Amino acid sequence: MSQHIGVLTSGGDCPGLNAAIRGLGKAARETYGMRVTGFIGGFPGIAFDRAVDLDSKVLSGILTDGGTILKTSRDKPHRMLVDGREQDMTDAIVDNYRMHGLDALVCIGGGGTQKNAMRLAQHGLNVVTLPKTIDNDIAMTDRSFGFDTALQIATEAIDRLHSTATSHSRVIVVEVMGHRAGWLALEAGLAGGADVILLPEIPYDVTKVAESIRQRAESGKRFSIVVVAEGAMSRDDVEEVNRLVRLRDGADCKDLRREAKDRLREFHDEHVGHTIRLTKSLEKLTGQESRLTILGHLQRGGTPSAADRVYATWLGTECARLLHERHYGVMLALQGTNLQRVPLVEVAGRIKLVPVDHPLIGSARRLGVSFGD
Ligand code: F6P
Repeated sequence: MSQHIGVLTSGGDCPGLNAAIRGLGKAARETYGMRVTGFIGGFPGIAFDRAVDLDSKVLSGILTDGGTILKTSRDKPHRMLVDGREQDMTDAIVDNYRMHGLDALVCIGGGGTQKNAMRLAQHGLNVVTLPKTIDNDIAMTDRSFGFDTALQIATEAIDRLHSTATSHSRVIVVEVMGHRAGWLALEAGLAGGADVILLPEIPYDVTKVAESIRQRAESGKRFSIVVVAEGAMSRDDVEEVNRLVRLRDGADCKDLRREAKDRLREFHDEHVGHTIRLTKSLEKLTGQESRLTILGHLQRGGTPSAADRVYATWLGTECARLLHERHYGVMLALQGTNLQRVPLVEVAGRIKLVPVDHPLIGSARRLGVSFGD
């Protein structure tokens, strides 16, 4: 009896999603004789039965396309917005999984998706996940697909920003994505020859950043490139966040706890404001004109790099083989040069941050790059 598998994409879009869908779909259909049903728009796609047959016509020609033919969303199975109200749609998902006669559901996504997929596995669904995000912050895998393309985009942007920095003798601040991890900032900063790299993992002192820029100017380097991870925080920011966390977790008054929780969420969402303030502070402290570029969603756009195409295709085809052998409840992870099956319970709810002793941080420091500490 041939198997019938479902697949959905969830969380932020990124280059390589269509390569993964293609790899999974073609291998499942053509090598293992499976039926493949896609669900549109992330977890709502299976909750509201927005199903599409992934036949050879749908899968043809999508390898190089950015985004995802299955669309995506950040909705969670247990907290889904339905008519303006959050509802638990887990039972609807389980019902539609059974109604379609699925043998397994493949969820392609980032950290949040791993957790949501594990919850569905705990409700009896056969689930396999693939690690997707430009942030590269998924635990237990060396890399997530999407990261390499975003790194290339950010690096090209930093290369281009050198022109205006050198021509105007300016401090150019570039904010890159990465959510609460610094992988993209660290590697794009290194690749782009940044003079300062600010990471969430190393809270910075703006006066030390300014001092490193002033020292460059005194040595004749009248321009500086500052790469800032969107999750980077000053030491003062960290103190404010810690104060809010203490309030959220320990205030006697319920309203105070809720207020602190809301303020914490706003705080992280205000990363652009933090970076604007940083840019203005650097101009004041260094006396050099400073300008800011926020790369934002550019880093998630367009065709995947060759490396992401290969990696995402490999994940997809290996996932098809896994399903053929009926392995479930795992994420496929790159560890060294091999793909390994990692139990979802070891991935869900965890984040992979940059270790402060990471070799690339040491490498950058030996170049004279400042981390603001
Ligand atoms: O997780 C990928 C990511 O691009 C993060 O780097 C970024 O903080 C977030 O998504 C932006 O989310 P959205 O696309 O929902 O604004």
